[in-house]
Amino acid sequence: MNSFIYDIPTKVYFGAGQLAHLGEELSNYGKNVLVCYGGGSIKKSGLYDQVIAEIRRAGLTAFELSGIAPNPRVTSVNEGAAICKRERIDVILAVGGGSVIDCAKFVSVAAFYDGDAWDIMEHKYEPTKALPLLDISTISATGSDMDAGGVISNEATQEKIGFSIPGLLQPKVSFLDPTLTYSVGRRQTACGSADILSHIIETYFVPEDGSMFLLDRFKEGLMQTVVKYAPVAMAEPENYEARANLQWAASWAINGFTGALQNVAWTCHPIEHELSAIYDITHGLGLAIITPKWMKYILDEKTVSRFYDYGVHVFGIDGTQAPMDVAKQAIAATERFFYETLGLASTLSAIGIDDQHFALMAKRACGGDVLPGFRPLRQADIEEILRLSL
Ligand code: NZQ
Ligand code: ZN
Repeated sequence: MNSFIYDIPTKVYFGAGQLAHLGEELSNYGKNVLVCYGGGSIKKSGLYDQVIAEIRRAGLTAFELSGIAPNPRVTSVNEGAAICKRERIDVILAVGGGSVIDCAKFVSVAAFYDGDAWDIMEHKYEPTKALPLLDISTISATGSDMDAGGVISNEATQEKIGFSIPGLLQPKVSFLDPTLTYSVGRRQTACGSADILSHIIETYFVPEDGSMFLLDRFKEGLMQTVVKYAPVAMAEPENYEARANLQWAASWAINGFTGALQNVAWTCHPIEHELSAIYDITHGLGLAIITPKWMKYILDEKTVSRFYDYGVHVFGIDGTQAPMDVAKQAIAATERFFYETLGLASTLSAIGIDDQHFALMAKRACGGDVLPGFRPLRQADIEEILRLSL
């Protein structure tokens, strides 16, 4: 069992009505607030008006960075950093999904850098300072509200790069009000749920030394939560219990607690990021397509016991059967969940993607060498998983 550091510094206000604390929390960090948001969902829901009212009530001044796209672009990060410098911003408030929060995270460090923010993504400049970041999370998916990571796209180079900076990129305060996720549509709820499940799978399917009884059972509980409540939230968008369970599961799937023992990288995420870099697809959808194919590709006598646990504890498969049979049924149950319960596309060709860029994507995903993980993968392995996904 590996040693680890547990350090989750984000203060969370969870539940309906918690936005009443927004003004007092922002005031702790200064007067000039940069409000970051996306394409307009927060205006449609009325959240924008509520946030501006809270800021004014607290005697603070609001500036804005709007139009942050899903798969957020580095151009938005540069735009936000320029506003921070010009308006002497004291604190950043991200209001939206993972894309908005990720963009705001990199704005918070780019505000102290005079060059192109893409230099940060390419590690040409290593940030040491960040403006304080608070967020109001409006979709249950990435868990960006409690983690130290972010992912930024560059349209010009068709690249998407993500990484964590512990201690610098975690939000200071997150407001998680499940009622703010009521307006998330069926498809986006499905994609978000696929993303949450994938985050847990990435940390559950690890070698023995990355495993711990307590954490394994905790992760199985998180996965059961997604499997149980995603369809409820899709059928009844205003079901508080379902939305609340998904939202808290999203945060805990990635906030550092479940992955604490690991010293290996994730597998399906780096592959999916290459897909959304080139084709600008929704992250959770790409994961839903790839994950079961990856599972089939890596299942063998060495990996079977993990699949056995997953099948028995998450999907309730009869554990008296041979482990390999249980493992295959577990993968089939995963497919049924993604493609039937969530109704997501099961192949790349169904969303208009062919094999044209497979070699490039596979090369980038493994950094031209090996993608570490439960089963280390080389370029040829990744190309094969992509082909199986066609
Ligand atoms: O832009 P607006 O108008 O706000 O609409 C958004 C967007 O169109 C909409 N939406 C958000 N909240 C809503 C809502 N619509 C109605 N009601 C609401 N309450 O949903 C759409 C998708 O939003 P987005 O923020 O892109 O979704 P998500 O939270 O899934 O974020 C995806 C991004 O996060 C990255 C992904 O790669 C992708 O770029 N990730 C970030 C991670 C992290 N920070 O740790 C980890 C993840 O693995 C992931 O890679
Ligand atoms: Zn993800």
